[in-house]
Amino acid sequence: MADRYLRLAATAPGRFLTRRLGLPRPVPLHRWSPQHPSLDGPLLLLSAGEPHLALEPVLARTGLPLLGGPPAVPGGSPAGGAASRPAALVLDTTGVRTVEELAGVHAALHPRVRSLAPSGRVLVLGAPLDPADPHQSAVQQGLEGFVRSLGKEIGGGRTVNLLRLTDPAAAESTLRFLLSPKSAYVDGQVIEVGEPEEANQCLAEVDRPLAGRTALVTGAARGIGEALVRTLARDGARVVCLDVPSAGAELDRVASSVGGDPLALDITAPDAAARIGGALPDGLDVLVHNAGITRDRRLANMSADRWNAVLDVNLGSVLRTTDALLGEGVLRRGGRVVATASISGIAGNTGQTNYATSKAGIVGMVRALAPVARAAHGVTVNAVAPGFIETAMTAAVPLLIREAGRRMTSLGQGGLPQDVAETTAWLAHPASGAVNGQVVRVCGQSLLGA
Ligand SMILES: NC(=O)c1ccc[n+]([C@@H]2O[C@H](COP(=O)([O-])OP(=O)(O)OC[C@H]3O[C@@H](n4cnc5c(N)ncnc54)[C@H](O)[C@@H]3O)[C@@H](O)[C@H]2O)c1
Repeated sequence: MADRYLRLAATAPGRFLTRRLGLPRPVPLHRWSPQHPSLDGPLLLLSAGEPHLALEPVLARTGLPLLGGPPAVPGGSPAGGAASRPAALVLDTTGVRTVEELAGVHAALHPRVRSLAPSGRVLVLGAPLDPADPHQSAVQQGLEGFVRSLGKEIGGGRTVNLLRLTDPAAAESTLRFLLSPKSAYVDGQVIEVGEPEEANQCLAEVDRPLAGRTALVTGAARGIGEALVRTLARDGARVVCLDVPSAGAELDRVASSVGGDPLALDITAPDAAARIGGALPDGLDVLVHNAGITRDRRLANMSADRWNAVLDVNLGSVLRTTDALLGEGVLRRGGRVVATASISGIAGNTGQTNYATSKAGIVGMVRALAPVARAAHGVTVNAVAPGFIETAMTAAVPLLIREAGRRMTSLGQGGLPQDVAETTAWLAHPASGAVNGQVVRVCGQSLLGA
């Protein structure tokens, strides 16, 4: 499972060889750890045209010193003096409505993009498309092409994303996530933050935002599920860990390592929702649908059993349990549903007609349910769509396809379970109530299904 090419490419001879041979040049990504929790350098706030949003107060709270701002350390030199390279370039384009004003995007980033530190962030802030103004829509949609192209060419573990927003305060948890090492493998994405929610705007518990909340993770015994359990527990949640009874020993190990509770249950069982409700007498705040299976065959060789098993675990059970836990009030107001899609469900994949149907179904569920669940229950519904993530599931993929999955991304490497878990933790955050109906790919900007 280890990515030997990534390790080789990070050595001096490896760098020389990959450059000379024109091979992908992945670099080890800076991911969040307690020892290294922030990006390495200041943030430079830029604007295409007149600054449009009052961003500085919110950006100042990301923990990154603002370039040109006050000293990070009292008595020190101004944040990001001439010597320090920015770790984040944040470009406000929310006021850009005409093709002529787009010149400001080039003018702001062209002279500065080379100065961005490795594993740095370009974050373009755009406005929601205005259906009454075709020029504004064209120009703001144009930024998607800009972001996705710059993401493909920038290299060095740097990422480029587009965030559409109207109210910086409602987007604070999202800005913090995108401007931190927690979003290391989120690249080339377009995310929209909508209207602020009445409640749940609390960012007070910065280190343990889920303190006092209960989360349920399905498929918790290994892989991405195990990382989800650890990350949600790190953020303060009490985690109920669900997996099939045959995974009991692993499930117990994972649950006990974070002081959580195991729930040995096949999520497709007819009484699954009732048993989950029974295990959560005080209700649930965060429901993470992570359990999933593959049963790959080309359609001509695929039995009905393989088709039905995948559709039932990956989609049927998700719809049934979400309906029941929402309908019976087990999911409390302010709750979060995060489901797991896949880039397979966005781009399609040979041998995966069943799997891609199920995962595209998750996207459909999220889009339809998000506004209804928020209006009726105060619950948000979003999805993560992983690309190639290093787990037991992808270790079983034949070598050449595995290598293609890793290298055919802007970051030139597979993601780690923790990348999906961090993205889920942001969506589950109590202050992410204005993020609803989003499908966020955690794929290192996979070249498939871009
Ligand atoms: N690994 C990747 O590259 C990748 C890419 C895209 C999407 N995903 C999705 O992410 C999720 C996790 O993937 P992973 O790689 O960690 O997989 P994995 O196979 O390592 O783990 C899946 C877990 O789900 C559990 N599970 C399966 N059927 C279940 C059922 N009926 N009831 C309860 N639990 C059940 C399994 O026992 C296992 O512990 C899945 O939904 C998968 O489709 C993974």
